[in-house]
Amino acid sequence: MKSKYFLVLAACLILGSNAYAEGGYQLAQKHMCTACHSLDRKIIGPPWMSISTMYQSRPDAEAYLTGKIRSGGTGTWGTAQMPPSNNVGEADLKVLAKYILGLAKQ
Ligand code: HEC
Repeated sequence: MKSKYFLVLAACLILGSNAYAEGGYQLAQKHMCTACHSLDRKIIGPPWMSISTMYQSRPDAEAYLTGKIRSGGTGTWGTAQMPPSNNVGEADLKVLAKYILGLAKQ
């Protein structure tokens, strides 16, 4: 009987630890980021795993990525253009930046 409870508890913990990451990905789908980005391969934009790895050691990475997602731009990864995210609220911008940065940490 006890082991059953333990299994349920363990399942909750595992699901719980993924909830934040899944929330980030769902937000990215909601804002259509995933039309140009995937985790591990280039679509129009660079793979988010590569972005995450590249900025791991940058102290202001979260602020930088938040700004870049807000304004878009070109030239860091190639000549393709990322459009500005005019319809994405400040809170969502931060969650997206945190989510992408966190990918290489997992
Ligand atoms: C129309 C295609 C497109 C869409 C939609 C798009 N991106 Fe991008 N994204 C790009 C391209 C192209 C680049 C590379 C820009 C560069 O080289 O400076 C990029 C770069 C990035 C970067 C790295 C910036 C850097 O300076 O290294 C992040 C983070 C990012 N996108 C996140 C997002 C998020 C989050 C969304 C959704 C709100 C999104 N993108 C929507 C095309 C897109």
